Formats: sequence, structure tokens, C-alpha cells
Amino acid sequence: MAATTFATFLTDVGSFYIAHGSVQLTQYTGADMQFEDRLAETARRVEVELKRLLLSEKVDAAPAQLVQAMRHAVLGGGKRLRPFLVLESAALFDVSVDQALPAALAVELIHGYSLVHDDLPAMDNDTLRRGQPTVWTQFNEWTAILAGDALQSLAFEIIADSASRLDAAVSGELVTQLSRAAGVRGMVGGQALDLEADKLGQPPAPDVSHISLLQAMKTGALIRFSCEAGAILAMAPAPARAALIDYGRHLGYAFQIADDLLDAEGDEQLVGKAVAKDAAAGKATLVSLVGLDSAKSELRNTVKHAKAALATFGERAETLIAAAEFVAHRDR
Ligand code: IPE
Ligand code: IPE
Ligand code: MG
Ligand code: MG
Ligand code: MG
Repeated sequence: MAATTFATFLTDVGSFYIAHGSVQLTQYTGADMQFEDRLAETARRVEVELKRLLLSEKVDAAPAQLVQAMRHAVLGGGKRLRPFLVLESAALFDVSVDQALPAALAVELIHGYSLVHDDLPAMDNDTLRRGQPTVWTQFNEWTAILAGDALQSLAFEIIADSASRLDAAVSGELVTQLSRAAGVRGMVGGQALDLEADKLGQPPAPDVSHISLLQAMKTGALIRFSCEAGAILAMAPAPARAALIDYGRHLGYAFQIADDLLDAEGDEQLVGKAVAKDAAAGKATLVSLVGLDSAKSELRNTVKHAKAALATFGERAETLIAAAEFVAHRDR
């Protein structure tokens, strides 16, 4: 979808919610433990697979410090929400974990690279990530830049190199959609809008439409891709794929609102990164524009719409429905 159309869509959704939002979310409690278990199981699996990948022939003979920095970036932490969404959207269509893994790992590698660069002094200048020193503080800036670059190419290599598991048309479509989500009209473009607001004060007064576009690109695009990936892997019919894209869009928007709320109100120990930085840095966030209460109301309504997008899947979508609640209520 063209950026302008996407902006208009989110603006319409955004202003409606801010004006009318009042729906309550169910509390995310012990009743959802099955979801927590599934997420933890995926996190374990992703950790094992990433470790294996970063010891494999794919990084053989590479400079040792560079590989160490890549390992520091992607091992030992993270919620692994994006790979979880790939595996769970694939499970809707009975696509196996083995088949879905290359796409799941690829999106986590792109996410890991985005965090390494996001933390650089020239960007958000952060020293703490997942409770550990950021890659540039642990190593140095040039190693962090190159580790991010290398994680990105590795992501595409593992999809392109999964011929034994994936049909060529499927891996081609995964590469196309992931590169779009990661690139200039997706994450990287969104990071540029984020930094233009932060460093240049551009635009001088970002409105809801601008913030929605920025968030849909910098965070939403990879989350949307993660949800769509299941349908791509299954070569699912267009309506099912559209439903997952719709879910992923709302989930991505909800995810960044929750991230901004955590920055405003979260506990640094739990979140594992510095909090209370966005306002000081002049970040363009929904919280800064409309305040905490309206942002929370927007979050509740966005989650409601994410869940509604899954109606076509009935009970099979139970885990993805729980994922929407998790995104809204997470404390890390
Ligand atoms: C943080 O993402 C960066 C954003 C896109 C807002 P996560 O909250 O998913 O970070 P990890 O992977 O769990 O550390
Ligand atoms: C980052 O957004 C989104 C990325 C594309 C990495 P933030 O800058 O808000 O993420 P955190 O708060 O540092 O994790
Ligand atoms: Mg940032
Ligand atoms: Mg940041
Ligand atoms: Mg943040």
C-alpha cells in the first residue's frame, strides 16, 4: 500500500479512536498462561537456532569480533515476538515450525540489526539494551554498524538459502515482503522520520497522522510482515492473507504505543532499557501528542480492532488474539 494511503488509513483510525475510545481490555492474567508458555517455548527455540546459525559455516572465517558483536546483538534476550507471530500465523494453516523457521529467524535478525543501529550515538544514543550494554558500548561504533549490516544480509541469506524447506515462489515472496518491510518504505524510512522529528524538529508540530505513519513504518512494518508471513508460507487465499495483514497493522501500531507508554511509565529493570528518554529527546510519539490517557484509550481500541481482524479464523486464532492482549499489557 502506498505510504499516503497508509497514512490516511491510520489517521482515520487514529482520530476516531482518540475521539471515541472507551472500551476496556480484559486483564492479562494467569488465565493466559498457555500463551506465556507458547511464547517462552518459541523464545527458547529461537535462541537455540540463532546460536546454531552464528556458529555455522555462514559465519566461518569472518572476523571474530564482528561475529561476537552479532551474537551479543541477538542472543540472550528479547521477547522474540516477531518470530512467534511468524510461527503462529503459519500454524493457522498447519505450516510446520520447520518450514516457518527461516522466515521467523530472518525477521528476528532484521529486528536485532535495527536495535543495534537504533542504539548508536548518532541515533538514540543508548547504552542499555535487554539489560546488557548496547553493542556499540560493549565493542565500538564501527563494529556495531558492521554487525547490524551483517545481521541484515544474513537474514536474507537464510530465506534465500532454504530451498530444501521452501518452494522457490514462497521464498521469493518472503524476500520481497521482508525487504519492503525493512527498507525505505518500512523500518528504515520510519527511523528516518523518527530522527527528523527528534534531531531536526521536522515537522515542527507532528500531528496524529504523521505519528501514525512514522510508527507504522518504523515498528509496524516488521510486525505486519511477521503476521503476513504465515499466509505467504501457506500460499493462503487472498482474503486470509488480507485478514492477517489487517491484524498485523493494528498489532504493530499497538506495539509502538505500548513501547512509548513503557518509556513514559515503565520500570527500567523490567524493560531492560533506559526509560523516560522519549520526552527528553523530543521524540514524536502519540503519548507526547495526546497524553497518557488518550494514548491508552487508543491502545485499547487498536487491540480490539486487531482481534476483530482475526474473526475469519475462529477459534484457531486464539493464540494470536492472546498476543494482541500481551502486546497491550506487557511490562517489558
Ligand atoms: C523494541 O522491540 C523496539 C521497538 C520496535 C519498539 P521489542 O520490544 O520487541 O524488543 P525485544 O526484541 O523484546 O528486546
Ligand atoms: C525503535 O523505536 C524502532 C526500531 C526500528 C528499532 P525505539 O527507539 O522507541 O525503540 P527502543 O525504545 O529504543 O527499543
Ligand atoms: Mg529509536
Ligand atoms: Mg531507541
Ligand atoms: Mg522506545
